[in-house]
Amino acid sequence: MIQAKLTSYADAMAALKHPLLVQALYDAGSSVMGDALITLDGDEHAQRRVVEFAVFKRRFFREYQSKKFPELLSQVLEPYLAAGEADLVELGYRVTMNLTADLAGVDRPCGDVEETQALLALVRTFSTGATLAHSTLDHGEVNARVVTALDQFSDKFLDASIARRKQLIAQEQPLPNDVLSKLLGAQEQLQLSPPVLRREIAFYLQAGAHSTANAMVQAIDEVFRWIAGGHSSAQLLCEQKTLLQSAVHESLRLHPASPVALRRAAAPLEIAGHVLKVGDLVEVDLVQANRDPNVFGDDAHQFNPHRQTKPGVWPFGLSFGYGNHACMGRDLDGGVVPKPGAEVESASLGIVPLLVQTLLRHGVVPAAQQAPQADTTTSRPNFASYPVRFTGEKAA
Ligand code: HEM
Repeated sequence: MIQAKLTSYADAMAALKHPLLVQALYDAGSSVMGDALITLDGDEHAQRRVVEFAVFKRRFFREYQSKKFPELLSQVLEPYLAAGEADLVELGYRVTMNLTADLAGVDRPCGDVEETQALLALVRTFSTGATLAHSTLDHGEVNARVVTALDQFSDKFLDASIARRKQLIAQEQPLPNDVLSKLLGAQEQLQLSPPVLRREIAFYLQAGAHSTANAMVQAIDEVFRWIAGGHSSAQLLCEQKTLLQSAVHESLRLHPASPVALRRAAAPLEIAGHVLKVGDLVEVDLVQANRDPNVFGDDAHQFNPHRQTKPGVWPFGLSFGYGNHACMGRDLDGGVVPKPGAEVESASLGIVPLLVQTLLRHGVVPAAQQAPQADTTTSRPNFASYPVRFTGEKAA
């Protein structure tokens, strides 16, 4: 039972940064999330976060975004453009699967579509396990599928990825910039058991792929409606990078990946007028907090890429979290917000804005005859499918 529900932006921030309110959202999803970074607190969390954070440097993001990602994206897009149509959910997962596998450190030696699909199928199973708190499926069945998927993941991908990195370490060769390499390099300090190491990498794969794919589909949906309402055009959004990035941030604000964060009191404490005992649960309503009119104005519930936020308030609200568990992929996916009045740099646009820009450039429009379908396997407001067409008209 939840003892406190926090809905204002200020209360949400206070809860997310409170050192005695610890992670509780993934308790039901321990088959894939048990001992993963996001479930840890205190010294263990801090130690592992520092090791992994070394992957997430802005310099690396800029390079990845301007070199490797465009290649990866055009490879994935090619068959969809040739067919003139796509399901955005499927397309989003295929792109983000490769992206997060690169960051997590999961090698794909064949590099073909079948291999991406095989990894994707496993990661989608991990996702249903990780978000069990919001699942409408039978929890026992989901957990059983996760256990099988984890074994298949070891056989098909992880064991070989570990072996390659261990060999590089033994030969004192440079390691790739990924989470698995950092963890193996710090094994003496961290002492992760093989099952924990496996769950950590599985967590990364699903955390990155799932949220990025959903963020892209939600952003395109908002952009379609904004264009249809006569507020802008695909051409303008492609030309004005700052406006495009703001449109994606505005969509992220309105549609946080998880509608709530959940924390448990590790000691008696008081927050936002609620007196809590050890073990009491606090729900942080990110959807409400991100629509707080005191922070985002009277039209906070509307999509408005021209919105100006006050200093210290992120345009995407709390959608990448805040405090100890703040998202590691924030700058990569959302890009770097330019200083007021400045234009966003191309290499800092962010993966989700870059994806939206690329799709608009290929003339993406909603498929006339097929409506998008909601995902009914979760209470999270995700799309299960989103059919689109490519008109081939290059917007810019
Ligand atoms: C648009 C895409 C994304 C969104 C909306 C998102 C959102 C979030 C949120 C809200 C949290 C905090 C959860 C909490 O406080 O309970 C989080 C944590 C995290 N995210 Fe993301 N995320 C995204 C993409 C990524 C990517 C691409 C990666 C890496 C490949 C990533 C890695 C992480 C990690 C490692 C944490 C845990 C940090 C910790 O506990 O110390 N995320 N994310």
